[in-house]
Amino acid sequence: MSNSLSRRDFLGAASGVAAGATLGLPLITHPGFPAVHIRQGSKNVAVASANGLRGVELTGRLVGEGMDTLDAAIEGVKTQELDPDDSSVGYGGLPNEDGVVQLDASCMHGPTKRAGAVGALEGIKTPSVVAKYVLLYTDHIMLVGEGAKRFALSYGFKEEDLMTERSRARWLAWRANRGPDDDWINVERGKEMVIRETGTININVVNSNGDISSVTTTSGLSWKIPGRVGDSPIIGAGQYTDNDIGAAGSTGRGEANIQVCGAFLTVENMRRGLSPTDAALETLRRVVATTEPRLLDEQGRPTFNLNFYATNKAGEFGAGTIWSGGRYAAFDGATAALHDIPYLYERE
Ligand code: GLY
Repeated sequence: MSNSLSRRDFLGAASGVAAGATLGLPLITHPGFPAVHIRQGSKNVAVASANGLRGVELTGRLVGEGMDTLDAAIEGVKTQELDPDDSSVGYGGLPNEDGVVQLDASCMHGPTKRAGAVGALEGIKTPSVVAKYVLLYTDHIMLVGEGAKRFALSYGFKEEDLMTERSRARWLAWRANRGPDDDWINVERGKEMVIRETGTININVVNSNGDISSVTTTSGLSWKIPGRVGDSPIIGAGQYTDNDIGAAGSTGRGEANIQVCGAFLTVENMRRGLSPTDAALETLRRVVATTEPRLLDEQGRPTFNLNFYATNKAGEFGAGTIWSGGRYAAFDGATAALHDIPYLYERE
């Protein structure tokens, strides 16, 4: 089972930059959009959600050694998918309300303009790699459920129990304290689990040649209704790459992101000339504007959180979040570090 994009994939797949150059910069033109000049950087950069600190370090190092950007980003997210202590993705991810772990992932490869995704995939620890196999070996973009599992098994992926002792204990505690009208005896009164975690890892990477990729993988919303698919496997929501412009991806409440196609919108905001951070914050303002009243507080602010992470072709990177207090991870060409995320609203 080869995990590498073959060299053949890259032949003729150099950047889709339109012909013509001004001021030494490629002139990118798109019907209906102003022409923009995207200066290509010369460093390897990766930006991710905070749980991607190890991931961006690995991704940055691997692209520095010449690995393809998508292969490197997937190696980065696999650190979390395979980590039993990360309850937000892959092995050890929190299950749905039936106690079944259903995983979502998607990826895009800028140079070849290809995409792959899986939704509600059960029993496979690394959905990001299965998404890459959809990208590499099919004429489709997304496979879900049983079909996605059969596809993975056909390539030699192993079916495994994705529950750890810890995630099973947390699911059982949630089930036991579900509500006053269920048939489960409450085991820990006063400790009702009201917080439903939405964990995810997104990595966006650009190399010194200006080639860009992105990947997002998740176990989704904990205790979700079986079959629920979030934003992570949706191309344009969970992540998006345009090799002429940059890449963006998201963590947080997937339903809010799907409604604005937030990763696509963030890349489009960068196309209009916004910095990665401003592009992310602009997308979040759209999220606020499209949020239904049920999910707003008395001051009109969302009662959930959502984050976007972005890098442009020049290697500038940034992030944005709705509520203060979050951090994101970035490899800046030399070192990996956590940074505070610029936000729309200060937490009280
Ligand atoms: N953003 C991850 C999810 O909502 O599933």
